Amino acid sequence: KKRVLVLTGGGDCPGLNAVIRGIFKRAKKEKNWEVLGSIEAFNGVLKEPMEVIRLTSKKVAGIHVKGGTILKTTNKGNPLSYPVQREDGSWEKIDNTDELITRLSQLGVEAVINIGGDGSQNISQVLYEKGVNIIGVPKTIDNDLSATDFTFGFRTAVQIATDSFDKLVTTAESHHRVMIMEVMGRDAGWIALHTAMAGGAELCLIPEIPYDIHKVVNHINKRYKKGKGFANIVIAEGAHPKDGEVFQREAKAAHAEHVRLGGVAYQLSSQLKEAGCKAEIREAVLGHVQRGGTPIAFDRVLATLFGVKAFEMVLDGEFGRMVCYRGNKICTVSLKEATSTYNVVKKDSYLIQAAKGIGISFGD
Ligand code: F6P
Repeated sequence: KKRVLVLTGGGDCPGLNAVIRGIFKRAKKEKNWEVLGSIEAFNGVLKEPMEVIRLTSKKVAGIHVKGGTILKTTNKGNPLSYPVQREDGSWEKIDNTDELITRLSQLGVEAVINIGGDGSQNISQVLYEKGVNIIGVPKTIDNDLSATDFTFGFRTAVQIATDSFDKLVTTAESHHRVMIMEVMGRDAGWIALHTAMAGGAELCLIPEIPYDIHKVVNHINKRYKKGKGFANIVIAEGAHPKDGEVFQREAKAAHAEHVRLGGVAYQLSSQLKEAGCKAEIREAVLGHVQRGGTPIAFDRVLATLFGVKAFEMVLDGEFGRMVCYRGNKICTVSLKEATSTYNVVKKDSYLIQAAKGIGISFGD
C-alpha cells in the first residue's frame, strides 16, 4: 500500500480532527493507500523510537465533533531548529531536516500532509524545496493567513467569545461597570472585531489600530453621561496604545508570552484608571477557552473539505501547495505565496467602516 503521513503542528484549533477524518475517509476510498499519523507534529518521526500510528476507521470514528487533535500537537520541535542534547548534557538546536527526510523514506511515505499555521507552512516550504512531496492545510483560530478567506476554527472561536461577551454584558449592566474582555489575536484583530460586532461592544481594540487611551476614556465617559451606565470593551491580546512599543512579528511571540502572564486586559484596566476613568472596571481573559471544545458546524464542514481536498492533491501530485478557501471555493495556492503575506484587518476595510457606523470605537 502507498502511504501518506499526516501531522498537526502549532497551537490546536477546533476542526483539526475533522481534517484528519476527512483525509482518512477519502484515502480509504482509494483502497491502495494507508494513512499514518505522526504524534506531536514532526516530533513523532524524529523521536527514538518513532511515535507514528496507522489510522484506522475505529481511530477516526466520530472525531470530527471533538476539539483538539488526536495526533497531539506542539510549538516545540521545529525540524529546522530541532533541540538535541549534547554529550555533556547541554542542549543545542540543529537543522534536522536531512534526518527527517531519511526517516520519512524509512517509513515508506510517499507524501506528507502538514496541518498547521504560518510557522508550520514555512517548514512545509523548506521540506518541499528539499524534495519532500508535501501539502499544507491552513490552521489558525486567528484567521491571519492571507491565502485563504477563512480558516477553520476561527468561527468557533468567535462564537465562544461572543457567548462569553453576552454573559459579561448583563453583569456589566447590573453593576454599572466597564467590562474588559480579552480575546486571542497576537497579530490580527479578526476575533476581536467579529466578537465586538456580534456582541455589540462599545469599544474594540485591535493590533492594527493602536489606541489613544484618552479617546477610549472619553468614549466611556460620554456613555456614562448619556445615562448608559456601563460599557463593554473587547481587546485583542496584541493590541497596544499609540505611544506604546510596537513589536515586529518576530518579537511578538516573546511579547505575547510577556503579556500573557500579565494580561493585556489588566494593562488596559490600569491605563484607564490612570487616564481618569472613574467607573468601576472588571477584566476577563478568555484565553484557551477559545481554542477548546467542539467546532461549530461551519468549521466541521470547512475542515472536512480541506481534508478531502488535501488527499486529492496527493493523488494529483499537487505538491508544494496549500489547500485554501477563496470566494466560496476550495482551491490551492503555492506554499511560497501562502507564507509570504499575512491577513490582518485593514483600517479602511468595510468591516471597520461598518463597525464605526454602528458606533463601535477603536480608540483612534
Ligand atoms: O494561534 C495563535 C494564537 O491563537 C495566538 O492568538 C495566541 O497568542 C497563541 O495562539 C497562544 O498559543 P499558545 O498558548 O499555545 O502558545
